[in-house]
Amino acid sequence: MMDWNNLGFCYRKSATMLICRYNGGAWGKIESSTDDHILLSAFAGALHYSIECFEGLKAFRGVDGKIRIFRPEENARRMISSAEFLNLPCPSEELFIEMCKQAVRENLDFLPPYGTGASLYLRPTLIGSNPQLGVQSAKEALFLLLCAPVGAYTGGNLEPCNAVIARNYDRAATYGTGCYKLGGNYAASLRSLNIAHSQGYKATLYLDPHSHTLIDEFNSSNFFGIKGNTYVTPLSDTILPSITNKTLEAVAKHLGMEVERRAVPVEELAEFEEVGECGTAVIITPVDYIDDKPFLETTDPELVKRYTFVTEGCGPKSLKLYRQITGIQYGELDDTFGWCLFV
Ligand SMILES: Cc1ncc(COP(=O)(O)O)c(C=O)c1O
Repeated sequence: MMDWNNLGFCYRKSATMLICRYNGGAWGKIESSTDDHILLSAFAGALHYSIECFEGLKAFRGVDGKIRIFRPEENARRMISSAEFLNLPCPSEELFIEMCKQAVRENLDFLPPYGTGASLYLRPTLIGSNPQLGVQSAKEALFLLLCAPVGAYTGGNLEPCNAVIARNYDRAATYGTGCYKLGGNYAASLRSLNIAHSQGYKATLYLDPHSHTLIDEFNSSNFFGIKGNTYVTPLSDTILPSITNKTLEAVAKHLGMEVERRAVPVEELAEFEEVGECGTAVIITPVDYIDDKPFLETTDPELVKRYTFVTEGCGPKSLKLYRQITGIQYGELDDTFGWCLFV
């Protein structure tokens, strides 16, 4: 029996995964497998040259018993943009969405009940699969639709987390791949994240790789800050265009807040009343403090500058935004924006 209330965010095998293969210039039939292993040449480009991109989105069981997938067309489009960058064959928006729906239908036993705050996380994954030696675009690809039931990413939903600025590490390069969802970006952030974890921080915050004076994003989520009635989030070419962030901007406007997407200097952290991480996995995770130090490895407390936000629980504006977005996802509030796809 699944402990729906304490799932966390981790691997759990579901009933099936879906596979679609691209070779000979076309996508084949959708196959379903109860085994979540794949047979792949050890020379596949994905394994050597990181010819890989992925997506993350969620399906929810609503208060009305209906099943909703949240904004899948946005993820389909973002995967197309990642695949285009890699020159990797990409499934159409239609195929992407069809496979998301089929994955949910085949894994209903893993779709958490309403009221648990949990959901079914969908992980579309696209890899270059033909054997190759030498850096060149993949000619064959595998598109996988994986899923797993998940709770919150870091502890409980709305449980505050802390973060540290990884000043001497970049997750993305100035003219690099930060705005695409490539596995390689996460590999690039792993070392700094591990150092941060070893020091008791839950997240790393990266600065813009060009000047290191502006806030970019967290290791696996976008940044937002609240100042008065204004939702502020970085405008940057080196961050992932978060679908949750885009959603929150619309929700904030809907709730009568001002929205500013612009460059955010690090020092402005001192002016935010609330700061949060936002992303599909975390939805919103309030951040209670962010430490800034000359080097991530520095442990001398004298050299740490701490920016403190809400000290207990979630700030009122973040909570309002969270309630609005989750209300739509679970069918408690009207989806006036037309964001939910019913399965
Ligand atoms: C680096 C990074 N930024 C931002 C996000 C948030 O994007 P989205 O809201 O589309 O999930 C993610 C993924 O969740 C991420 O990995």
